[in-house]
Amino acid sequence: MSKKVFVKTFGCQMNVYDSEKIVDALKIIGYEKSEDLKKADCFILNTCHIRDKAKEKVYHEIGRVRELFLNKNKPLVIVAGCVAQAENNEMLKREPYIDLVIGPQSYHKLNESILKFQKNKSKNEITDFETIEKFNYLSKIQNKKSKVSSFLTIQEGCDKFCHFCVVPYTRGPEYSRPYDQIINEAEILVRNGSKEIILLGQNVNAYNYKNVNKEFRLSDLIMSLEKIDGLGRIRYTTSHPRDMTKDLLDCYKNSKKLMPLVHLPIQSGSNKILKSMNRKHKVEDYISVFNFLKEINCQIEFSSDFIIGYPGEEIEDFENTIKLIDRIKFINSYSFIFSARPGTTASKLKRIDDKITKNRLKIIQEKLFGYQKMKNKSLENKYIDVLIENEIKGQNKFFGRNEYMNSVIVEGNKNLIGKIVQVKISKSNQNTLFGEIDRKKTIKAA
Ligand code: SAM
Ligand code: SF4
Ligand code: F3S
Repeated sequence: MSKKVFVKTFGCQMNVYDSEKIVDALKIIGYEKSEDLKKADCFILNTCHIRDKAKEKVYHEIGRVRELFLNKNKPLVIVAGCVAQAENNEMLKREPYIDLVIGPQSYHKLNESILKFQKNKSKNEITDFETIEKFNYLSKIQNKKSKVSSFLTIQEGCDKFCHFCVVPYTRGPEYSRPYDQIINEAEILVRNGSKEIILLGQNVNAYNYKNVNKEFRLSDLIMSLEKIDGLGRIRYTTSHPRDMTKDLLDCYKNSKKLMPLVHLPIQSGSNKILKSMNRKHKVEDYISVFNFLKEINCQIEFSSDFIIGYPGEEIEDFENTIKLIDRIKFINSYSFIFSARPGTTASKLKRIDDKITKNRLKIIQEKLFGYQKMKNKSLENKYIDVLIENEIKGQNKFFGRNEYMNSVIVEGNKNLIGKIVQVKISKSNQNTLFGEIDRKKTIKAA
């Protein structure tokens, strides 16, 4: 009988992709994914280090597992991801319940270290940056069934060193996977049922792979994916404003499958703050990307990330962020209070009073949620294309997404999973649209 592995994932989409790959790799040594922690022989916590209390959250989770398994056989406990990379050996010292600690660029060594642990109970910490070996190993492991919407990592790591961010330390230097390896993975995903591919990278639009004949950019990948029969939608995230090159912007003219939502984190609407963050782009650069894309297609919408209360943020800086939000009318954004991350340049800067930042966050979120609701409301009584992804358990309803990534709930049947259907929206709230499938209109096989 196969052993059971339970994986809990925090953080960004790349961690979700990694967790899926880890589960695929673990099948080789006899583990099967379980949704029930109580039955797990192996517990993997895939961690995120981006904001406050990341470390404490990990120890808290491990404590919960220890309690659950009190008086029972202990599962093999593995901490993976960005906290594992940042804390490495310290974790094994502080929490004896942890057996293995493994950083994001060492997953190709996970099976080997599990087997070693099973043999001689030797605890281990692996935090090398061996990105090429990792992808060479993981790309050979194939899954027989894909989700309707699948992630595909094309680039990892970051060389930009924004002053607030831990990612360059936890994910290592920028690395772009070979073009052929990516196309091959995309073709397999589509063959196994994917209708949408979301290309991932910490700086996905910094993708740059050179072989002897050619240099490949994100735009080349998009235009190649465009040609894969059966693939209906292409997305990419997270992009950086500095790497919005003309070839990428032109994809919005040339690709029919590239979705009209651009997630382009700005962080702040003040050039003074952007400079202090070491972002190396200006608000004007952002607006020119916005103008260019809106001219190509006025239906293109934007989403973004904001950091509120960055050290030195004065009321005028904050007001400039509000002005930018009013200008772009982002339809779905993330906003967080600045968190001082250990080892980053910004962690040494003088913090703004908590009360002020909390108040600013509240104002910003009201603005952002307002635009989000307004966009959703504007879709009521309209027909929109929805890719149906799965059935909602026990509700006889189906979940899908529109072109702008909004969740859409409809009644339907299992045959619609993986199809793009026309839905008439009857109701909406901030996060979800509700509607009915129009059976008279064409149902497209994506
Ligand atoms: N590479 C992307 C970019 O440059 O825009 C961002 C990737 S980061 C994993 C995701 C988001 O986390 C950032 O856009 C930022 O808003 C937020 N973030 C990162 N460090 C933060 C910090 N120290 N405090 C608050 N938010 C932070
Ligand atoms: Fe972090 Fe900046 Fe790199 Fe984005 S570009 S991952 S925010 S250092
Ligand atoms: Fe978190 Fe690491 Fe992603 S810090 S946001 S899991 S790159």
